[in-house]
Amino acid sequence: MSRLQTLLATVQSGLWLIGGLAILGIVYQPAVAQTPDGSFHNPLNTVEGADPWLTYYDGYYYLATTTGTSQLYMQKSATLSGLKVAKQELIYAETEPSRCCNMWAPEFHLLDGPDGKRWYFYYTAGTNGTLDNQHSHVLESAGTDPMGPYTYKARIFDPSNDGYSIDGSILQLNDKLYFLFSSWTGDYQILYIAPMSNPWTISGPRVRLTRSEYDWERVGLNVTEGPVALQHDDKTFIVYSASFCATADYKLGMLTYNGGDPLDTQSWVKSPKPVFERSDENGVYGPGHNGFFKSPDGTEDWIVYHANEGPNDGCTGKRTTRVQKFTWNADGTPNFGTPVSLTTDIANPSGDTGNDPLPQRAPAPAYRFAAFDDPTKFINQFTGRGKVSPMGKPEEDFEFILREGLADPKAVSFESKSKPNWFMINRSGNIWVAQFDGTDAFREDASWWQKPGLASADDVSFEAYSQAGAYLFHQKNLLNVKVPESDADKAAATFIMTEVTN
Ligand code: AHR
Repeated sequence: MSRLQTLLATVQSGLWLIGGLAILGIVYQPAVAQTPDGSFHNPLNTVEGADPWLTYYDGYYYLATTTGTSQLYMQKSATLSGLKVAKQELIYAETEPSRCCNMWAPEFHLLDGPDGKRWYFYYTAGTNGTLDNQHSHVLESAGTDPMGPYTYKARIFDPSNDGYSIDGSILQLNDKLYFLFSSWTGDYQILYIAPMSNPWTISGPRVRLTRSEYDWERVGLNVTEGPVALQHDDKTFIVYSASFCATADYKLGMLTYNGGDPLDTQSWVKSPKPVFERSDENGVYGPGHNGFFKSPDGTEDWIVYHANEGPNDGCTGKRTTRVQKFTWNADGTPNFGTPVSLTTDIANPSGDTGNDPLPQRAPAPAYRFAAFDDPTKFINQFTGRGKVSPMGKPEEDFEFILREGLADPKAVSFESKSKPNWFMINRSGNIWVAQFDGTDAFREDASWWQKPGLASADDVSFEAYSQAGAYLFHQKNLLNVKVPESDADKAAATFIMTEVTN
C-alpha cells in the first residue's frame, strides 16, 4: 500500500470576527473582538501548524511545526499567545538529496550530550518527490539555546530493520533512553520502541509498542504514529495518534507503562478508548500529533496538538496548532477533556501575563473593492504588492476581510482572504500585503479610517491612519497612498465595496 499522505496544501482561509456592516458598506461598526485580558483563543497559527512541538524554557515558549519543505523553523515568545505573531526563525536548511525534503514532525529535547546539555532536534525527512524514503534525523545545538545554532548530527535507524521511519520521539525511563517512532509493516503503520546508547544512536533492535487494534484506530488507514511520552508522579504514558491523518477521526490513544521491561510489548497497556478526539460541536476535526508542555511556573500541564476547522480539510497545511490545559484523574491518568472551539476564551497558563495579539476568529464576510474610476479593476495582492487589476485567479487574492483596526478598533484593517494574518500595509506611500508581526508600527501602517467615497458618497475611501490626509489610491495599476489634489485623484481614491457572497 502506497503511503497516502497528501500534505501541506494550500493555506487556510483565516476568518476574523468583525461587526455588522451597514447595508451600503459605508459605515463599518466593528464589534469588540478582543479576548478578555489574560486569555487567548486557539489557534496559534493560521496555516502550516501541523505536528506541533512546544516547550517553555528559561522564560520563553518555543514552537516548531511541520513544514513539508527543506527548512526547519522555530518561533520564540515570552507569552503563549505571542507565538501567534512571533517571527519564524530559520534554524536549519538541508541540501543533501538523501534527506533534503518533506520535513515533518519536529521535536526538540534537552538531553545530556558529550559536552553537556544540548538540544537534540528530531525530525522526519526524505528525498524529493516521494514520501517512501522518509527517515528519522536529528540536529544538535551548539549550546543550550533552543534557537540554535544547530548542526546535523545523524540519521537515526535500527540497523537490524532500516527503513521508513517517521515521528521520532524520546522516552527517558529508568535512567535509560529510548527512541519511539512509527513505521510501515504491511498494511499497518506500527509504533516501535528501541534502546538508545546516546541521543542519536539506536543500540538494539526495535520492539513493537502497538499497532491499530480497535476500529477507532483504523479510520482511513491502520495508523499509529506521533508517539510522545508523558510522565506524572510515578506513572509513564505514551500518547499516540491513531487512524489516517487525512480524516476527521484522527485522534489520540494512550499506552500505560506497567513496570516491566520497556522493550517488552506486554509492558505497555492500551486504553480501549481514545483519550482525545474530534468535537463536531466545537468545530474541531482530526485533533492529533500532540506534544506536552508546562506553564511558566511549572504548576500546570498543557497539551499542544493540531486540528482542522473542517471535517474534510485533510492532512495538509490547513492543520493549525492548538493548546489547552489538562488535568489528572484520581487514578493518576491524564484527562485531556475535549478539544476547545476557536471562540473559547482560554485562560493563560499560570505565570503567563500575555494578552492575545489577535482577536478571536469566527466566520466573517470578505469584500472586493473595485476602482470607482475603472470598475473592471479590483484591489488585489500580487506577490505582496498591492495592485488594482482585472479580476483573476485565485479570486481570494482579490478579497479582503475588514477587521477592526490593528491600531484602533474604530479604524479598519484589510486582512487578505488568501493569506490569513497578512494585511494591506502602507510602506512609505506604497501598498504591500505583509504578515502581521505584532509591532505597533505595523498596526499603524495597516490601519485605515473608512470614509464616504471622496468622489461618490455611496462608495468608500480609506484615509491612512499613519499618514493623515493621505488616502488609499491607485495609479498605473499600483496601489499607493496620496493626498488627493484633483477630482481625478479623488476618483482614484474611491472604491466600490461589494461583499463576496459565494
Ligand atoms: O504531518 C506530516 C506527517 O503526517 C506526520 O509526521 C505524521 O504524523 C502524519 O502521518
